[in-house]
Amino acid sequence: MSSYTPDDKRYEAIPYARCGRSGLKLPRISLGLWHNFGGVDPLENQRALLRRAFDLGITHFDLANNYGPPPGSAEENFGRILRADFAAHRDELIISTKAGYHMWNGPYGEWGSRKYLLSSLDQSLKRMGLPYVDIFYHHRPDPDTPLEESMGAVADAVKSGRALYAGVSNYNAAQTRQAAAILKSFGVPLLIHQPVYNIFNRWVEPELLPALTEIGAGCIPFSPLAQGLLTNRYLQGLPADSRAVKSGVFLNAEKITPEVLAKIRALNEIAQKRGATLAQFATLWLLRRPEITTVLIGASKVTQIDDIHSGLRLPALSREEQGAVEKILTS
Ligand SMILES: NC(=O)c1ccc[n+]([C@@H]2O[C@H](COP(=O)([O-])OP(=O)(O)OC[C@H]3O[C@@H](n4cnc5c(N)ncnc54)[C@H](OP(=O)(O)O)[C@@H]3O)[C@@H](O)[C@H]2O)c1
Repeated sequence: MSSYTPDDKRYEAIPYARCGRSGLKLPRISLGLWHNFGGVDPLENQRALLRRAFDLGITHFDLANNYGPPPGSAEENFGRILRADFAAHRDELIISTKAGYHMWNGPYGEWGSRKYLLSSLDQSLKRMGLPYVDIFYHHRPDPDTPLEESMGAVADAVKSGRALYAGVSNYNAAQTRQAAAILKSFGVPLLIHQPVYNIFNRWVEPELLPALTEIGAGCIPFSPLAQGLLTNRYLQGLPADSRAVKSGVFLNAEKITPEVLAKIRALNEIAQKRGATLAQFATLWLLRRPEITTVLIGASKVTQIDDIHSGLRLPALSREEQGAVEKILTS
């Protein structure tokens, strides 16, 4: 028996939004398990993060085959915690996984062949101890495999019952339109797109977001806080327990230049003026766009989830604040 009883007020704690034109609603914040859920991370903290998220009505947890380190360990840990704490709540959860990046050696361990995608999904299900995931994504476009093959595999994942919905990640607007059309021809709608999107990286705005509206797919931006840059984390130097120091692969000291820091400080001032933390402000900035279904955060501490969650109660960003952000970005 689990010692965990979820908060019975959890569904009043967070708003939910419809994902594109589908019937699925997602919480305005979702939790990703890319960092802090690997074999190298303490399981008790992982458990505390997942419990706190669920207590706040965060029903969506995002994984991928390669999350760790080591690759695969985030799915194993998630499966462990799921069995211990959430077994009675599976139907209240939206669990996603992905395949596309390197997972095993040889020609079938990455990219977008049918062989790789369906083998990888079966491995993910085994690691998590699940008969199906809610969303299966192709993690990145494959320049060498026909899109019909990759999308055919994703559609078959859905049709075979191993996934309920189909998603793509890191596809540009043209690739997304094509993917959606191919999926549709197999009778499977494109539910959602997962692109990087934050104040510092706005590549989705000119073409991808309008394409998603046209297709009727939702959008779940990843690294919404630019991996922690758009928070108070690096305002006073480099904390020993931060991603830039602990992991250092995707975010490291070299990326935190004086120019970047000056922008972070200026953004922090606008956030403070409205009584928000920078993390709350950066989240509200994304939610200003109607195309955004849910913001996919990462967290190393329970207090970080609390912080972003409580920011959802603040008023939406004003035109003046949006203008001030533009000014900082172009200065
Ligand atoms: N599809 C893809 O290709 C792809 C790629 C990357 C990520 N993703 C998905 O997106 C998820 C989120 O990505 P991400 O972890 O880069 O997101 P992020 O939200 O931009 O960064 C998360 C980090 O920001 C810091 N943080 C979060 N909340 C904070 C707060 N309130 N105050 C201060 N610092 C705070 C923490 O850093 P510290 O750890 O330093 O405390 C945390 O680990 C991943 O878990 C994964 O599911 C997908």
